[in-house]
Amino acid sequence: MNKELAQARVFFESEALENFSRILRSKDYGKVAVLCDSNTQEFCLPAFLAALPELPSDKLEVLEIEPGEEQKSIEVLAQLWDAFGALNLDRNSLLVNLGGGVISDLGGFAAACYMRGIDFVNFPTSLLAMADASVGAKTGINFAGFKNRIGLFVEPIMVGILPAFLKSLAAEEMLSGWAEMLKHGLIADEEHYQDLIRRKPMADFIDAELLDRSVAIKASVVNRDQKEAGLRKVLNFGHTVGHALEAYYATQQNPISHGHAVALGMQVELSLSTVFAALKPQEAETITKELGGLYPFPDWDIEKEAFLKLMRGDKKNQGQQLRFTLLAACGRAVYDIAIPESDVWEHLQKFTGV
Ligand SMILES: NC(=O)c1ccc[n+]([C@@H]2O[C@H](COP(=O)([O-])OP(=O)(O)OC[C@H]3O[C@@H](n4cnc5c(N)ncnc54)[C@H](O)[C@@H]3O)[C@@H](O)[C@H]2O)c1
Repeated sequence: MNKELAQARVFFESEALENFSRILRSKDYGKVAVLCDSNTQEFCLPAFLAALPELPSDKLEVLEIEPGEEQKSIEVLAQLWDAFGALNLDRNSLLVNLGGGVISDLGGFAAACYMRGIDFVNFPTSLLAMADASVGAKTGINFAGFKNRIGLFVEPIMVGILPAFLKSLAAEEMLSGWAEMLKHGLIADEEHYQDLIRRKPMADFIDAELLDRSVAIKASVVNRDQKEAGLRKVLNFGHTVGHALEAYYATQQNPISHGHAVALGMQVELSLSTVFAALKPQEAETITKELGGLYPFPDWDIEKEAFLKLMRGDKKNQGQQLRFTLLAACGRAVYDIAIPESDVWEHLQKFTGV
């Protein structure tokens, strides 16, 4: 596994704290601002500060925002920049993103633009952020109704992963991150997938080693194709159908979590993989059963035209063609596979019975 670049900046548990302390000592920042949402301020900040006694209180500032995806907005971004100015953050300041993917996406982007870029580090607190969002250099906000429309590829100077933060994470959020970890195994590492399937998506079953496997898979893909010219598309397995389902259910006032939607998308795309890639039907059936046990399809109708319209909006399509990442086998993904809309709908129907 490639341990360079993105992954080289990722540290776990005591090593993360030691490395962060080393950075603080060597850089001698004038100000250190910690960005939290109200949940991570309550559940993670006290332990984080207690573990870092050398964080000088006269240089420390805490910025708190509301939790939720709506915070990844131009308005909240502007409020953050106002707050940076009011706290006199300058080029010799550090921003610590202590939170889930919303905090690392928003905070990373805010830091990368402020005064043409100040240092930032990520201490992810959700499973999704530990296993995925805090690594890979994507930062940004939603804009004009489009997710992640405005953003930058920029690396934090380090990522520190403290799995103990997972103890206060809600079960639904745990499942959401677990789906991305299962995806990592399915696209690149069958052993990792089997290891995950033997465990439960609960804090007691998730250790640094397990997280490190997911981070290594993501980092190895990103190191070879940071800007998604090709290979990085494998990380989108389950997302083409998943994003459309997520958006569809949201418009029906029946929202499901991102991870749940991705897991449903993976089930449909496994079925497509038996026809449009080399996945053996028996293998697809086994994995689908395993995923379906954790992530069942809702018993709701789906309206064909509205769903297909959402599929057509996917970023990976080329021209009029829907493009998919599929599995050739458990642990081996293929990408840029063109599939007609009628086939996607037909395979979705196997699960929804619409
Ligand atoms: N940059 C990337 O590569 C990348 C990859 C995947 C997802 N993302 C982005 O990540 C975001 C989703 O991330 P997320 O699921 O972490 O969302 P999130 O940041 O909204 O966190 C989910 C919820 O969990 C709470 N929470 C987080 N840590 C907690 C803890 N330890 N204890 C109690 N509550 C806690 C948060 O307050 C929030 O309510 C999306 O905006 C998505 O676009 C980015």
